[in-house]
Amino acid sequence: MNLLRFDSEAAWSRTVCSLWRDRLRTKPDLKMCLPSGTTPAGIYAETSHGARTGLVSFERARVFALDEFGGLAADDPGRTRHTLQRQLIDAVDLPPTAFHFLDPDDPDIAQHCMDYEAAMGDGLDLMLLGIGLNGHLGMNEPGSSVDSSTRRVELHGTTVQSSARYFAHDNLPHWGLTVGLRNILASKEVWLIANGAAKAAIIHQTVRGDISSSNPASLLRRHPNCSLFVDAAAAGLLDSPDGR
Ligand code: PGA
Repeated sequence: MNLLRFDSEAAWSRTVCSLWRDRLRTKPDLKMCLPSGTTPAGIYAETSHGARTGLVSFERARVFALDEFGGLAADDPGRTRHTLQRQLIDAVDLPPTAFHFLDPDDPDIAQHCMDYEAAMGDGLDLMLLGIGLNGHLGMNEPGSSVDSSTRRVELHGTTVQSSARYFAHDNLPHWGLTVGLRNILASKEVWLIANGAAKAAIIHQTVRGDISSSNPASLLRRHPNCSLFVDAAAAGLLDSPDGR
């Protein structure tokens, strides 16, 4: 895992955006999987601006949403699909048919997940990931198998609680659909992004702790082409021996 530390959140965000534009220029038909959430918000805003000003194009790209919350109204603005659309998709020139998302309301979830995997195919070009406070990737909670595929999952209590910031109501989701660890680990390139002091402890554990499915993010250390982008606050405990 390449560790890239930045002195400021602005430098962190700027660099991820610049590398992303580079990947899209080198391979305009880039096939990527993207998270929603608070971590990538600034990166998506800058990339949207880049698309509006002609710096980058998504015209030939394909985007797959990393996960989706279940048990919510189809038009709930906190659903991953809608968040991602607001944050990025609606602002770039991605053709509507090139945006793929998971539908937890499909009556046949198993088949839906298999179809999603088939559409992703083997080896996405770029997998962009945030990290949960417990090390989850997408909705692959601690204990998820390295072989796990796209599937329905139950959310851990801490994940349910921390999802509250995405919703304007108290009906927090307890389950969801997620791209699996197998799909994540099979991606050609993986970028794990983290900012802010709240992520410092899990970043320390991910970089310095054991490689174990009890911290799914640590499994990325076995990936041949994974980079971890952290700002100074998220990297704040990396130089302390016990991560405190
Ligand atoms: P966040 O979520 O980007 O909103 O912090 C990350 C995650 O839980 O995977």
